[in-house]
Amino acid sequence: MASTVVNLSCNVGATKVLDRANYMGLKPSMNSNFVCVRSTNRACNRRLFVVRASEMHDDKKMGLSDAECEAAVVAGNVPKAPPVPPMPVAPAGTPVVATLPLNRRPRRNRKSPALRAAFQETSLTPANFVYPLFIHEGEEDTPIGAMPGCYRLGWRHGLLEEVSKARDVGVNSVVLFPKVPDALKSPSGDEAYNDNGLVPRTIRLLKDKYPDLVIYTDVALDPYNSDGHDGIVREDGVIMNDETVHQLCKQAVSQARAGADVVSPSDMMDGRVGAIRGALDAEGFHHVSIMSYTAKYASSFYGPFREALDSNPRFGDKKTYQMNPANYREALVETREDESEGADILLVKPGLPYLDIIRLLRDNSALPIAAYQVSGEYSMIKAGGVLKMIDEERVMMESLMCLRRAGADIILTYFALQAARCLCGEKR
Ligand code: PBG
Repeated sequence: MASTVVNLSCNVGATKVLDRANYMGLKPSMNSNFVCVRSTNRACNRRLFVVRASEMHDDKKMGLSDAECEAAVVAGNVPKAPPVPPMPVAPAGTPVVATLPLNRRPRRNRKSPALRAAFQETSLTPANFVYPLFIHEGEEDTPIGAMPGCYRLGWRHGLLEEVSKARDVGVNSVVLFPKVPDALKSPSGDEAYNDNGLVPRTIRLLKDKYPDLVIYTDVALDPYNSDGHDGIVREDGVIMNDETVHQLCKQAVSQARAGADVVSPSDMMDGRVGAIRGALDAEGFHHVSIMSYTAKYASSFYGPFREALDSNPRFGDKKTYQMNPANYREALVETREDESEGADILLVKPGLPYLDIIRLLRDNSALPIAAYQVSGEYSMIKAGGVLKMIDEERVMMESLMCLRRAGADIILTYFALQAARCLCGEKR
């Protein structure tokens, strides 16, 4: 007997490597006799309700016409149906109380999995994810101590495998972060716009292998700067704004030339979005988008990332360019600037501790909003899971759903592959 499986969680466009029928949610199968609906999001593979196909047509047909059926009922021959179910019994000791006079009981709309699925306001699909990937010049994949499950991937092998795994479950967007050899770092970070540097080379390889992959890049000097700052450092320690923007424009153009789809300035210099837009357009890259790190806070949640890239600032902190975590209204100043300078996507970073900022941008801009679930957020969930203090998978899915609920269209997350597998019902 045939069955129908409706997988509500995976309504994303399938890539060519997917078992399309299964992925899109309709999976006929010959030897099962169930009609079932799979759950959305968190409870990845749980069946919500099951109806035995053999039970659906239990009563034999009598061969009566509609009129004869109606006449039988009118004549008092009411056909049999199951009895009114008895009231369920409360456990012994339950207090007997008067029913509360409530005309609204919100629990009514939460009482069954089907109702909860019907009224779910926010959705999460692999298409919402951008997968941040660390790359290096080596052949091997090197584990990152502070980020369990993450590696510095060899750009020629490990990276391609990871991207292919992500595409298998509908994640077709990546953002690249390079670990640059110390010998190539300098105070002015010129390696950032070397057309044959690690990032442009990798973009070309990825585009050659996967032409439809969406490639985001990071625009900032920190991986290339011998001082570990996002901009050029003057001898008195000041991060020079306009000189840095000049370098960032060259970096963005070099990435665009290699085939980047979206360049993402994460440096927080003033005026860089407009300058990069102008530089891209002048070189004929009108089609390349800018995702601006609009509200990027000077956060301690970036610690594991800096370990991954060995990019800790040599001195001081990033507080003269990244925002004060105590500030809310200031995010609107940045939003107005980035919008008027031509940003295509506005990003908030970190993610979960800054849900109010995501909502602020969502309500004040018509542009797509991105949230970055940063390294520290990832590592906390991983650590809690390893220590068995929390259920890693459920907390992961809940944190991603909450970022969407707050107003994020896309989420940059190191969980992209793991979460997409969960959404597709694959448990590994
Ligand atoms: C640097 C950059 C940082 C991150 C993304 N781009 C670190 C920083 O600003 O110091 C952090 C990402 C993360 O913590 O996951 N331009």
